[in-house]
Amino acid sequence: MNESVTILAIETSCDETSAAVLTDGQLRSNIIASQIEIHTLYGGVVPEIASRNHLMTVSEVVDESLNRAGVSLAELNAIAVTYGPGLVGALLIGVSYAKALAFASGIPLIGVNHLAGHISANFLAGAKPPFVCLIISGGHTSIVQVKDYTEFEVLGSTRDDAAGEAFDKVARVMGLGYPGGPKLDALAQQGNPHFIEFPRVMMEENHFDFSFSGLKSAVLNYINRETMKGNEIRKADLCASFRQCISDIVTEKTIRAAKELHIDTVCICGGVSCNSLIRSEFSRKCAQNGLNLIMPEPVLCSDNAGMIASAAYYQYKKDDFADLYLNAIPSLKLS
Ligand code: KG4
Ligand code: ZN
Repeated sequence: MNESVTILAIETSCDETSAAVLTDGQLRSNIIASQIEIHTLYGGVVPEIASRNHLMTVSEVVDESLNRAGVSLAELNAIAVTYGPGLVGALLIGVSYAKALAFASGIPLIGVNHLAGHISANFLAGAKPPFVCLIISGGHTSIVQVKDYTEFEVLGSTRDDAAGEAFDKVARVMGLGYPGGPKLDALAQQGNPHFIEFPRVMMEENHFDFSFSGLKSAVLNYINRETMKGNEIRKADLCASFRQCISDIVTEKTIRAAKELHIDTVCICGGVSCNSLIRSEFSRKCAQNGLNLIMPEPVLCSDNAGMIASAAYYQYKKDDFADLYLNAIPSLKLS
């Protein structure tokens, strides 16, 4: 039985309304309507506003993804949707929309874990399990052993803030605007990464957990101290030092996990994996350690429905369908 499989996927877990169509593991469209401009006014994502905008946009985004792919509803084998983790109101828009469409059209439904989606962006980039994957996003920072296409074991996670949260907070305090990660990354290009050696918390410890809240506080304390002394803040140097610290910690730990597990491929995913230093440092260190590295292109690293369609494709092959009782689970875990 080698029939081709076409899946429509919907993603509304945070501030991107996205829909994608995938056939047999190949993306045919991936439409992303970002709400960044709307939330910029408030300096961060406002959950209620995110939900309203998903509601206003989802239908159009789904239509466009089908049109761009040249696929009709009748040709779909499944409709997939992110059901957690994420903002509950935002998730509910996608889940309700997908359930209604599945019910009305009689097409099977697949519920996808957003984090499994991020990991599955790597399948689109050619990764084949087993591999060790760093998920590094605005809400999560974890190292995962990907044993098979749908089998994941979390080896370690952040005990406090996610790396993206730290990037956004530090950027906000420096007045760089929202979303802070990309802006801080750009400014860091012009700075000295050794201007301040921030503590590499837990980097040498013999586990795969992270902690970024101490680093965040160290940067904030530095800024307060210097401001009180009337000194000018060397923003580019500060950004470069902060970015170097996070990059050192996440590259070191991920590579150590691969070596300890004797796994020869490393993958990265999540919005913070767009960071230019993290990408170049992974390239350099993986080459140095004889490891294969797969990095999805940036558009597949931050939130998008293409990665959700990719995860759903492998769930489809395992007959892992949802029923119409599927609900949004804001704190859904990976394993
Ligand atoms: O994966 P994602 O789009 O959404 C979540 O699931 O959280 O990640 C968003 C996060 C934000 O914190 C954003 O500032 C960060 O990814 N980000 C970056 C960069 N691009 C996006 N952080 C550092 N450097 C970047 N270039
Ligand atoms: Zn995400």
